[in-house]
Amino acid sequence: MNKKYFIAVGLLGTLLLGIIMGCNSGATTQPEPSNQGVAKQDIKITEAEKIALGKMIFFDTNLSEPSGQSCASCHTPEAGFANPNHTNPTSEGAVTGLFADRNAPTIAYSQYSPEFYFDGIEYIGGQFLDGRAATLEIQAGGPPLNPLEMHNASKESCISKMAKASYAEEFKRIYGQNIFADANKTYAAIGDAVVTYERTSQLSAFSSKFDAFQKGKATLTTQEKLGLDLFIDKAKCFICHPIANEDLTTVPALFTEFDYDNIGVPKNPNNKFYTLSTVYNPDGVDFVDTGLARNPRVIADGRVAQTRGMFKTPTLRNVDKTGPYMHNGVFTTLKQVVAFYNTRDSDPTKWGTPEVAENVNKDFIGDLHLTEAEEDALVAFLKTLSDGYTKP
Ligand code: HEC
Ligand code: HEC
Repeated sequence: MNKKYFIAVGLLGTLLLGIIMGCNSGATTQPEPSNQGVAKQDIKITEAEKIALGKMIFFDTNLSEPSGQSCASCHTPEAGFANPNHTNPTSEGAVTGLFADRNAPTIAYSQYSPEFYFDGIEYIGGQFLDGRAATLEIQAGGPPLNPLEMHNASKESCISKMAKASYAEEFKRIYGQNIFADANKTYAAIGDAVVTYERTSQLSAFSSKFDAFQKGKATLTTQEKLGLDLFIDKAKCFICHPIANEDLTTVPALFTEFDYDNIGVPKNPNNKFYTLSTVYNPDGVDFVDTGLARNPRVIADGRVAQTRGMFKTPTLRNVDKTGPYMHNGVFTTLKQVVAFYNTRDSDPTKWGTPEVAENVNKDFIGDLHLTEAEEDALVAFLKTLSDGYTKP
């Protein structure tokens, strides 16, 4: 946290404002997506085809058991690549009545999360809210087999469905005629194709009103501008959701450094995962999501105590479309989220105790003295972060 604070202080002042105001042209250069683990010459030949294939797999509702659920069911483009069902706090799987333990996050911009690592002070990066899949490639193999998601009993069961898909021939052409004979190789190929799609600008468009504003191509309303000012000043949001990248030049703001914090989110009594049978949830209503402390690498490193309750800081891009909010979906509106940051500590009875009491961040959150109008302005600013802005 100290590290962040110093970065924050270093950023404050004319430099930060300069970037926010779009004076630094470098700040708006779109980064090249990386293609970890894929041979360079391979990309040259088939990248566009791999993207098309990966997209078909991503949207294929025949790969679940029973059929009907694809990756896109829980990560829909129109919903900011999060779950379009804004009522359930956490996602329902392919099997009716089985709910994931966590709220499906946006996967837009997840390509920029670095491979999970410990920097000497804190953990950074990885996929999932606890970073337990070190990379996107590793992540992609999870959902088809997860009983609370696509629910296939085995790799083979998912692959036999894929072998019948309309794109099966294309799959073999790209990854080899015998690819379906080896389950592990098929899974690696699925990961490769899906991740090639996930790393495209289709998922990281940088096309919000805020981006247009930074390029000098849009004007924020008075309320949105006030929200931006509060975001970097009185409300201190940018300390964890930075508005410029650490090197201040190459990447437009991601609104996260993919590090971890416990912000004291309360339990969500409406989380349907609590009602699942002991097969899926041995703790029943007493289930506590300890976040980063569940990551096997963190457990092996012996850092459970100091990571309990921490979750990966999410990007705020498209946040207007991705409700409900937080790892357990406890908040349904952005207004509630902002009110929580504002009065978590000054009005604790309103919010209840944190799901995990240890490691709660008290430095920048909880008693911000924002007025109602300032809370509204912050919400208005957050709404400028949705991709697909077109000039009215
Ligand atoms: C039933 C809903 C559901 C389905 C289907 C689903 N996901 Fe997810 N996804 C989730 C949830 C919930 C999480 C967060 C889980 C966690 O943190 O433990 C998640 C997390 C992710 C993440 C990590 C994002 C981040 O910021 O950490 C990626 C990437 C992802 N999913 C991609 C996929 C892909 C690819 C598929 C299809 C192969 C898929 N998902 C299918 C619900 C779903
Ligand atoms: C100390 C770091 C920190 C600060 C300061 C902070 N956040 Fe967050 N924010 C997080 C973390 C970590 C989460 C995820 C917590 C969870 O899921 O339990 C989060 C989640 C959110 C979410 C929910 C996103 C989603 O997809 O569920 C929103 C919205 C948000 N923050 C906005 C803000 C705003 C606005 C401010 C300033 C008033 C702010 N944050 C200040 C760390 C921080």
